[in-house]
Amino acid sequence: MKQKQKTTFSCESCAYQSLKWLGCCPGCNAWNSFLQQEEPVITANISGGKKISMHALDTIIATPKSRIMTGIQEWDRVMGGGIVPGSLIVLTGDPGIGKSTLLLHVCHALAQKQTVYYFSTEESLDQVKQRAQRLGMQNKGLFLSDKTDLTDIFSTIERDKPQVVILDSIQNGSIGSGAHAPGSIGLMKEATFQLMRIAKEHGIAILITSHITKEGIIAGPKTVEHMVDAVFYLHAEDRWQTRLLRAVKNRFGTINELGFFDMTGHGLVEVTNINEQFIAQMTTAPGSALISSIEGSRPLLLEIQSLVITSKLSMPQRVVSGLDHKQVVLISAILEKYLHAKFSTHDIFVKVSNGIKLKGSAADLGIALSLLSSYFQQPLPEKTLILGEISLTGHIKPINQIGILIKEAQKFGIEQIIISKQQSIENGSKSIKYFSHVYELLRLFPDS
Ligand code: TYD
Ligand code: MG
Repeated sequence: MKQKQKTTFSCESCAYQSLKWLGCCPGCNAWNSFLQQEEPVITANISGGKKISMHALDTIIATPKSRIMTGIQEWDRVMGGGIVPGSLIVLTGDPGIGKSTLLLHVCHALAQKQTVYYFSTEESLDQVKQRAQRLGMQNKGLFLSDKTDLTDIFSTIERDKPQVVILDSIQNGSIGSGAHAPGSIGLMKEATFQLMRIAKEHGIAILITSHITKEGIIAGPKTVEHMVDAVFYLHAEDRWQTRLLRAVKNRFGTINELGFFDMTGHGLVEVTNINEQFIAQMTTAPGSALISSIEGSRPLLLEIQSLVITSKLSMPQRVVSGLDHKQVVLISAILEKYLHAKFSTHDIFVKVSNGIKLKGSAADLGIALSLLSSYFQQPLPEKTLILGEISLTGHIKPINQIGILIKEAQKFGIEQIIISKQQSIENGSKSIKYFSHVYELLRLFPDS
């Protein structure tokens, strides 16, 4: 096989590729970050490989591995029903969000039955011990180290083969000879490759943490996302103490599940009754509308908040968070067309409470009523769940799985619902208002 060398240059911090050396990286503006890479280019025919024997699908006997459960319901559910042995998982999020705290809780739960190795590359043994004491943990199956050399860490794992390994964080680790700078893309790739091999070869579940950089991109995990089995993201809405755990990628489960944790003086406490908190935070001010959406396997009761005010700009603003921007623009256009509400001369701000991101059209009617409520400065009827899709012609359409959503709302004393006239529902609510077209929505605003 004939090979020739092709020389390229790659940025150590963001993996930007260039054919010539650059002083400043156009990708991430880092200085002096380009390293030369020699890539062999295969130019001749690829022959001489061994024949691979193929297996008929029905002859393969799969041995389902039982998942490792922590008993922390919010964690287990987001993982897709526990951690799969032999998987490599990344937990990412802003610095200080609670990754180390969450993993310590997870370790504590797992160490009851498994041998867990916790490599803390950022904090000393003393610091970890103090945190563990603060969280009220005493455990014999949990072993700690504060060494940062990844080569030593890998050898230790391969030699001792614990069932679960935590590496907190991968960015702070270094590889022996210093071939890669800590936190660099090269090191991340190399370390992830090795960890993936170890996880698969020995059936060890490995969890690593990684921070998000100032630029907002996940430093490292973004480039190694394709190599690992699952990536979980821990974040919080500003001013909200509840942390949200969600999957960005999960080879062993859905990515729609959300986990909720409260940061308290004794660490992260799982919140299993999140809807109760959401309902308690609801307001009855104009612009507030209650909707519901199935996220993963459970219904969430959510508030849509709108602020519609006369604009002083020639191009009025549309600021949307937690919803699809286009969806809001479209609904305001439909309302303008059929109700002559002058949204095109108004600034519109819309958000979903508590930093949840909503997809799908079941929230259409809720968005429309929230906008109108702010526009007319009249509140919507109290304790009323709004569910429906809006077509481009202004018709209000039924939605799926409405029974589950209504049942959840009823648990919190919400009996009034606003839905499409075509919607058939099994469990009757005390008070249902039916609408078939957006024209009719004006009935809800008698003072307009
Ligand atoms: P940490 O888990 O160290 O964050 P990360 O690993 O993502 O960087 O969490 C740090 C923050 O959590 C810190 O600001 C203090 C807070 N905290 C509590 O409020 N209560 C606690 O019991 C613990 C352990 C931390
Ligand atoms: Mg940490």
